[in-house]
Formats: sequence, structure tokens, C-alpha cells
Amino acid sequence: MHSFTSVFASLALLVAHALASPAAPPQFEVLFSGPLSIGDRNVLSGPFGARLNAPVLGGDLTDVAGSLVATVVPATAADGTFFPDAKLTLQWAADGKFAYLHAQGVGELGGSDLTHVHLETDSATWSSLNSRFIVGNLTFGTPDAILTVFGVL
Ligand SMILES: *[C@@H]1O[C@H](CO)[C@@H](O)[C@H](O)[C@H]1NC(C)=O
Repeated sequence: MHSFTSVFASLALLVAHALASPAAPPQFEVLFSGPLSIGDRNVLSGPFGARLNAPVLGGDLTDVAGSLVATVVPATAADGTFFPDAKLTLQWAADGKFAYLHAQGVGELGGSDLTHVHLETDSATWSSLNSRFIVGNLTFGTPDAILTVFGVL
């Protein structure tokens, strides 16, 4: 019984030592890579710092052998449901200041979608929107889509 206790104590010390050792550093391999087509870049200084945004327009991702792995497409589910995740920069007519908008939601590509809109601006005229709950409706039409922004009352 005594030897069982000392073996158990030694085993517990070994386990404790193993748990105290740092993990092995992770190793990585390239899965895929490729150039992305980026649209016009917009820079603004908002109340939370400088931001740069630009649309990702497309791109081909290949493996290390050069074989096509994937292409960048809009976030659309198999049933046609569209999950927009868009970032826009606005320049206010009132004072020339900028606003950063991040819209995420759900809808139908080519139809319309409804998004929550996170808005940041340092415009004296529009800064009250920083603390409003805002949603957007983007309805696709020709030639342009119509964006309507709503603030909760
Ligand atoms: C967005 O607006 C369009 C045009 O008014 C309307 O037909 C559509 O139902 C709206 N979408 C949502 C999700 O409210």
C-alpha cells in the first residue's frame, strides 16, 4: 500500500511537470493564396481612429501547385439567401466630415436585404447617430441599388 502511494505521488509530479511545460510551437502550411481585386480605397478619421476601407471585388485562390481552389463570390447560401457584410464611407454634405458604416444582415441577392448598420462619425451635425440603433434596406434595381437607412425611434 505504501509503495502504491509513492508511485501515485511520483506519477502526479510527472503529470504536473508535463502540464507546466509550454506547448510546442504550432507549425503552418499554406492552404491557398491568391490576389484579391480591391476597389477604390477610402480613408477616414473617426472617433475610434483612422479607417481604410475598400470593396473586395473578386479573386482566384490557388494551392501551392497553382491549381484553382476557390473564387471570391458574394456571401450567398445554396437556397439563394444573401448575407451581406458591407462597409461604406460617407462624406456628409453638412460639414464635409466622414462616416464609417458597417452593415451586416440577410436578404436575397438581386432582391433586397435588411441589415444592422454600425455607424461612426465625428461630424458635429451627425454624431448623435453614433449611439442610435440603425438598420438599412438595400433593394437592388436597375441601374442602381437603393439604400435606405432607418434609425430606431
Ligand atoms: C426593402 O424595401 C423594399 C422597397 O420598399 C421592400 O419591397 C422590401 O420589402 C424591404 N425589405 C425589407 C426586408 O423590409
